[in-house]
Amino acid sequence: MLDLPHDSAPLKPMLLSEYRPPDFLIDRVDLYFHLGEDATEVASVLSVRRNPVAGTPNAPLRLDGEELELLAISLDKAELAPERYRIEADGGLVIPDVPDAFLLDILVRIKPQLNTALSGLYTSGGNFCTQCEAEGFRRITYFIDRPDVSARFWVRIVADKKRYPILLSNGNPGEAGSEGEKHYITWDDPHPKPSYLFALVAGDLVALKDSFTTSSGREFALGIWVRRGDEDKCAHAMASLKASMRWDEETYGLEYDLDVFNIVAVSDFNMGAMENKGLNIFNTRYVLAQPETATDTDYENIESVIAHEYFHNWTGDRVTCRDWFQLSLKEGLTVFRDQQFSAAMGSAAVSRIADIRALRASQFPEDAGPLAHPVQPQSYLRIDNFYTATVYNKGAELIRMMHTLLGRDGFRRGMALYIERHDNSAATIPDFVAAMQDASGIDLSEFARWYHQAGTPEITVEDRYDPASKIFELTVSQKTPPTPGQTGKQPVPIPIAMGLIGPNGDEMPTRLDGETAARDGTRLLVCDQPHQTFRFVDVAAPPSPSLLRGFSAPVKLLGVPLDRLKFLAIHDTDPVARWDAGQRAAIAVLLERVALWRAGKTLPPLDADLVATLRHTLADAARDHAFAAEALMLPSEATLADEMAVVDVEAIHAVREEARSALAGSLATLLGETYRNLTDPSPYKTDGQAIGRRALRNLCLGYLAAGNPEGGARLAKAQFDAQQNMTDVLAALSVLADIDSTERRAALTDFYQRWRNDPLVVDKWFALQARSSLPGTIAAVRGLTRHSAFSRTNPNRLRALVGTFSQANQLHFHDAAGAGYQFLADEVLILDPDNPQVAARMVQALGQWRRFDPARQALMKAQLQRLHDRPGLSTNTFEMVSKSLAGAS
Ligand code: TRP
Ligand code: ZN
Repeated sequence: MLDLPHDSAPLKPMLLSEYRPPDFLIDRVDLYFHLGEDATEVASVLSVRRNPVAGTPNAPLRLDGEELELLAISLDKAELAPERYRIEADGGLVIPDVPDAFLLDILVRIKPQLNTALSGLYTSGGNFCTQCEAEGFRRITYFIDRPDVSARFWVRIVADKKRYPILLSNGNPGEAGSEGEKHYITWDDPHPKPSYLFALVAGDLVALKDSFTTSSGREFALGIWVRRGDEDKCAHAMASLKASMRWDEETYGLEYDLDVFNIVAVSDFNMGAMENKGLNIFNTRYVLAQPETATDTDYENIESVIAHEYFHNWTGDRVTCRDWFQLSLKEGLTVFRDQQFSAAMGSAAVSRIADIRALRASQFPEDAGPLAHPVQPQSYLRIDNFYTATVYNKGAELIRMMHTLLGRDGFRRGMALYIERHDNSAATIPDFVAAMQDASGIDLSEFARWYHQAGTPEITVEDRYDPASKIFELTVSQKTPPTPGQTGKQPVPIPIAMGLIGPNGDEMPTRLDGETAARDGTRLLVCDQPHQTFRFVDVAAPPSPSLLRGFSAPVKLLGVPLDRLKFLAIHDTDPVARWDAGQRAAIAVLLERVALWRAGKTLPPLDADLVATLRHTLADAARDHAFAAEALMLPSEATLADEMAVVDVEAIHAVREEARSALAGSLATLLGETYRNLTDPSPYKTDGQAIGRRALRNLCLGYLAAGNPEGGARLAKAQFDAQQNMTDVLAALSVLADIDSTERRAALTDFYQRWRNDPLVVDKWFALQARSSLPGTIAAVRGLTRHSAFSRTNPNRLRALVGTFSQANQLHFHDAAGAGYQFLADEVLILDPDNPQVAARMVQALGQWRRFDPARQALMKAQLQRLHDRPGLSTNTFEMVSKSLAGAS
């Protein structure tokens, strides 16, 4: 059992097993907002009735509320006497004695200008905006704030005409008018929705406007609303929106369903973006882009986040979640859909490689640490803490496996059935799996285990070839390591997309024992036992099995010998598997050198095959620049750390840098030529070709600097000075950030002066210094917290400096003296009272303590303990800290 915060009333964890339907339903809500400079008044009229299926005919009415000042309340238009209701310790409102159906009129006062938690109604840059997922609506007014209560919302907003000329909410706009200095507008959302999808925005905004015509011929308006001056940075977001609308029609037959679709960009936002019905609210970072200020990665992220939020219109809004334990029902599915979309927009292999990198960088460590939880968790203290890589990214992998098992057509039929069954209602993960099963006839009962079992399965392969009988046997074993609270793991069905590669590098046809004919190309094996042997017949020559093509399951593949990895890194016909084999081979080579380095041995020359493979990839790069850039990148320090029983941060850094410089030495001529050949003076374009060229050229720049820091600094400075586009400028500056030089100092100063008025670019400036490997980085980062542009109230700025340092600077965050840990804990303590959601996320870097040596373990635990013992720590941060410490002595 989790221990509980000392400050607050004892908190009961929410349990999935205790789910009960709500005692009451709210069919309709009318909201009247009077937005003011000092305070805002919210009047609401709720049509409430007892829930016939709850079986609780005498239950009191309980409404959620938080930090609300109740000004008036009446039931069926008669004022409620104070003894008829009470406000509870957590802020909720209870009315013990109510009829079966009634109207409730409530007036509350709130203070959006003082809302630093950025949940509920708050202000950002002088404008009003909301964030209601997961439990923010209760900070706006009293309500049954849970996703299985869906109401029709009607909204009237009154505000100062000059300060807030634009007033937006969900649904379609209605009557508008003036009242002296003030004006009002009404919004009516015809689709019932839970309170977490409510949104309101008011401010001095300008829009990029457009329109879209659905396949069935209905035209509606599109608007992307931003602060004055940013309107010329919305074109890419708009193009992405229209592309995603078209894609969802073509791929799933899903059309948009209102007369307007609005997006608003705000600079103070806890997360990436939010799918409020008809009024998506975005972090500016996922909307604004122009070549001078945004990198290729920014362009790609905007495309995928815009798509993600739009796709939620069906998978999230029209069909929503019954309770927050079903979060992956909307998030895993919607991430999968945005991944499919990105793959269709560019190079499918390179986009899949990005998915895999993200999964391995954040989800695998989460699944192996103290915060491991199933894709469908069983309990939580604060739901905000469960917007995790496991729920999102592993959740998406589970959907992808169903897609692989059912095939594209089966999956599309399953989606159609899911939506047909659950449109306008709140569904569960088992509902989704059932729809997939019923539409395809494929039994998914065992598959459901993936949702309940935490931990990354490990599969080990062994094989045997008999030249006399021409039989090839492949034995696959699976095992999932224990995770907190879950020890005995069951086998799960693992789809392994595979093929056999012959000794000459050609793909061989495959025939399993018992099959009548051989098949060409990739085939699917499903491994659902602890051990399983697959017997291939008629195998002409000893093959190399190419396994997990396209990364067909979120597992770790062990037991493939280095020689075979090297072979597959050149010959695998599946690009994703070829890339992965190359990365695994590099990991093996580097880890061997880490062991030598730790033993104080001098390092032998770098593995000749690895050098030859990379040379081959570089020489052949013109085939696909973007893919070559991925394949030429050495595994990150974090990836290498994940593979070590006890992480040695200094050894990893030293060995990886040594290998980079050795490679740069061996490939110097080719790297220099490639760099020069890829120089592109033509205007900036963001198509896959152009992005791939820049990625490879900047990869070459990095290697050239690793081989020759002085020459590299000059080259990087020249690229920086050319100011071609932000991708090239930032790549150059990132190289310089790791080289102590006059060029570094000049470029950093120049960059800040040039871009000091563009917050998203200033974020990059902070992040790149936080990532530096130079000695003294901790002191520099602490110094940057005193920079005039640093702000702890803006989550983007805080993440850029503190988040980047703790999550992307392994070397310095894990400083042996503990200064990095102390810095993070200091920052968490400052942030926690103001913004618990973001503070709780920041603390996670300390949770990895079990992976380090005893001295670092002690230092990390000491900082966690310091946070744990702080009186008044938020429940959000407390949950993360206490889970991170669980089992520690
Ligand atoms: N539903 C959002 C998404 O994934 C996530 C989100 C946005 C969120 N803002 C939040 C989650 C605030 C928790 C708290 O698209
Ligand atoms: Zn989402």
